[in-house]
Amino acid sequence: MAKKTIADVNVTGKKVFMRVDFNVPMEGGKITDDRRIEAALESINSVLSRGGRLILASHLGRPEGKGFEAEFSLKPVADRLAELIGKPVAFPGDTVGEAVSAAAASLKDGEVMLLENVRFYKAEKKGEAEHAGKMAALADIYCNDAFGTAHRDEATMVAVPQAMKAAGKPAVAGFLLEKEIKYLSEAIGAPKRPFVAILGGAKVSDKIVVIKALLGKVNTILIGGAMAYTFMLAQGKTVGGSRVEKDKVNEAKEILEAAGKSKCDLVLPIDHVCGKALTSNTETMVAGQQIGDGWLGLDIGPKTVSNFSAIIVKAGTVVWNGPMGAFETKPFHVGTRRVAEALVEATTAGATTIIGGGDSAAAIEQMGMAQQVSHVSTGGGASLEMLEGKKFNSVGLLDEK
Ligand code: 3PG
Ligand code: MG
Repeated sequence: MAKKTIADVNVTGKKVFMRVDFNVPMEGGKITDDRRIEAALESINSVLSRGGRLILASHLGRPEGKGFEAEFSLKPVADRLAELIGKPVAFPGDTVGEAVSAAAASLKDGEVMLLENVRFYKAEKKGEAEHAGKMAALADIYCNDAFGTAHRDEATMVAVPQAMKAAGKPAVAGFLLEKEIKYLSEAIGAPKRPFVAILGGAKVSDKIVVIKALLGKVNTILIGGAMAYTFMLAQGKTVGGSRVEKDKVNEAKEILEAAGKSKCDLVLPIDHVCGKALTSNTETMVAGQQIGDGWLGLDIGPKTVSNFSAIIVKAGTVVWNGPMGAFETKPFHVGTRRVAEALVEATTAGATTIIGGGDSAAAIEQMGMAQQVSHVSTGGGASLEMLEGKKFNSVGLLDEK
């Protein structure tokens, strides 16, 4: 990517407006996974250590856009960030307005503040220029380090940097954004072969576009997760009570036909770990090509695991998006774990291995294997859209080197 980064600008004594993706999972006001905060630390510390004055902005969840909603407040994130960087993080409690302008004006070199959830204003989602202008006026430099949000055209992603550029201010990429794009677009652009995509998760509907896009690019697509059952229906197989999307069966058929005509192998599971219910203590059995009445397919079976693993360990590039089964509920975690182990083995053998997507990233993290693959993306929708080959406005507008 020939984009300027935060390393290319002199930030000393300057105010930097940095859009990050601090949309972290929370339960009862507590952060349950702070990887997205940690992933932004390199850019944050780079500004602070050089004496920059940092204004951080993010969304959290999907508030209605009618003002403050306590459950979507970024205050817990400000507190966590302060712990991680070992210095106070000012929190003016709004996105625009007097308190924010005053807090920004009083920042000293090496100090940092975090704005309140930018989506408390409807104007954020709509990308309104007037609202964006108020944020743009706060700083001298714009930095986008919010890869997870890079597919959104919201005010802090597009209208704010546009306004700042129009005022002659630099708009650059953060280190996380740079790294994500390097992995996700290089994987597509110039992959080491064989190039294998592993797609899982519950819904075919989420993955139709990416499967179509990947058919022309990868050597093999491995399909697991509940979306495999919709493909089984499309093949005229029985799926018992497994989760399916009946209205996507025709599209699944079209994908199977397109795969048949392409050079890409689309590989479906040949056996399934089934349960009577999605609970840990349910009765289980392994089904072959058909799943009988009264059973739910909840994970890929042992033969499928060895099939998939054999393909993965020989790959030059692997991208993985979506778990192979209901991995949060034991014993249906095994397929996802075995696939993760195969990815680690492939990485050791020299393959580039990339985990994109919220659930598969969470799974590999939980299993303690995140450090043993090439890259774990912080993006969910953004990493999928990048694999689909989409171009993001939020990235396109950044200054070239
Ligand atoms: C995400 O978690 O996918 C990003 O933070 C974007 O959030 P959004 O899907 O609500 O736009
Ligand atoms: Mg999302």
